[in-house]
Amino acid sequence: MINERVEKALNEQVNAEIYSAYLYLSMSSYFESVNLPGFAQWMKAQAQEEMVHGMKIYDFIHERGGRVLLSAIEAPQTEWANPVAVFVATLEHEQKVTALINGLVDIAIAEKDHATNIFLQWFVTEQVEEEASVDAVLQKLKMVGDQGHGLFMMDRELGARGAVATS
Ligand code: FEO
Repeated sequence: MINERVEKALNEQVNAEIYSAYLYLSMSSYFESVNLPGFAQWMKAQAQEEMVHGMKIYDFIHERGGRVLLSAIEAPQTEWANPVAVFVATLEHEQKVTALINGLVDIAIAEKDHATNIFLQWFVTEQVEEEASVDAVLQKLKMVGDQGHGLFMMDRELGARGAVATS
């Protein structure tokens, strides 16, 4: 049976992951609105990944005999100044999520919940990758600038990111 404090913290993370999906979907729609379909596809795949993260935690809570209590998802921002601003916000958001995951690990350790600690290690590693991949796009985008041929080429490149398997 899962400890109440751990259960509550994991429930909050389900909300945070689904909010991340919502935010990235909003960014995807922004990119559609400025005619960057490749960036839009990249963000849509990112949103799908976040749903997978949320569902992993959702399933884990049940596996441990806990209860998922879904709460309201905050409305995400809908407009950004330019593509660079979107990726600056994405990196900041991922850094925030990393801090949340680290906080969850701290709780699991404090509560001597070894199973949750081990479960969360996947997320610790995933956050390293998430921050690195977002930063790679951001750095390239800063070099390319917010318009012209370079941006067009980058859009084609990012559009190659396929849909994420959801099961
Ligand atoms: Fe689920 Fe991008 O962190």
